[in-house]
Amino acid sequence: MHKFDLKNKTALITGGAQGFGLDIAKKFLVSGANVIIWDIDKAQIKKAKRIVKNNNFSSYIVDVTNFNNVARVVKKIIKYSKIDILINSAGITGPTTQLWNYKIKDWKQIMEINLNGTFHCCKAIVPYMIKNNYGRIVNIASVSGKDGNANASAYSSSKAGVLGLTKSLGKELAKYNIAVNAITPAGAKTRILNQMTKKHVKQMLSKVPRGRFLELNELSSMVCWLSSEENSFSTAAVFDISGGRSTY
Ligand SMILES: NC(=O)c1ccc[n+]([C@@H]2O[C@H](COP(=O)([O-])OP(=O)(O)OC[C@H]3O[C@@H](n4cnc5c(N)ncnc54)[C@H](O)[C@@H]3O)[C@@H](O)[C@H]2O)c1
Repeated sequence: MHKFDLKNKTALITGGAQGFGLDIAKKFLVSGANVIIWDIDKAQIKKAKRIVKNNNFSSYIVDVTNFNNVARVVKKIIKYSKIDILINSAGITGPTTQLWNYKIKDWKQIMEINLNGTFHCCKAIVPYMIKNNYGRIVNIASVSGKDGNANASAYSSSKAGVLGLTKSLGKELAKYNIAVNAITPAGAKTRILNQMTKKHVKQMLSKVPRGRFLELNELSSMVCWLSSEENSFSTAAVFDISGGRSTY
């Protein structure tokens, strides 16, 4: 596994108990970082700990939709550690159906987790990054936030919102040594795919010129570089990892 230099860095990864978040955590650990994961899934956190088995890996049960919960745990962490890196990976797709059939509660839940959750974590952590004049934030958006996917209006809108948030916050923080970037992955085989119909997943894959799913290690490598000191210039940007689907 290729290593990046993340020695003496502490990374906080939301939705880190599985999927992209957990794979990023593993690559961060190999690269020398301390990793703290946040997730709402207690059983999955336990499983992740069994898989990772590393003293530099710790966890909290945090619901990113609850700002008080987020702020309280940040305050706790700041007492014993700085937070150099924030990866916003917690997310859901929600049901696949046309906009006019979307249940109001489903739409709101997707926005709460994917967009407001990212806002809550940035809002709570950025002041400490400013104090340290150091930070690397990577928001995991989706290619659907750029292109829009039929039958996924809530998900696509929430991810487009994450791209807007990234561009604005990146500009606000550009005078500090803080980088804020987003990535726009195509489909990868994680649990999140079970939330969509097989037909929808097949349609997603048919749009990818590479003709296959994104591998987790391919995504983690990009996130590692964006989270490292080496990324000292790129900010407020959107990095594509859609296998040729989206070319802008
Ligand atoms: N897998 C894909 O095909 C794909 C493609 C593009 C973008 N993404 C995005 O990547 C991110 C990670 O997705 P994944 O594929 O790893 O999914 P996943 O379901 O494997 O992992 C997501 C994690 O987020 C956690 N989570 C959900 N709601 C939460 C909350 N309110 N607070 C804290 N944690 C919460 C879940 O418990 C889960 O452990 C998501 O934002 C997703 O939208 C995924």
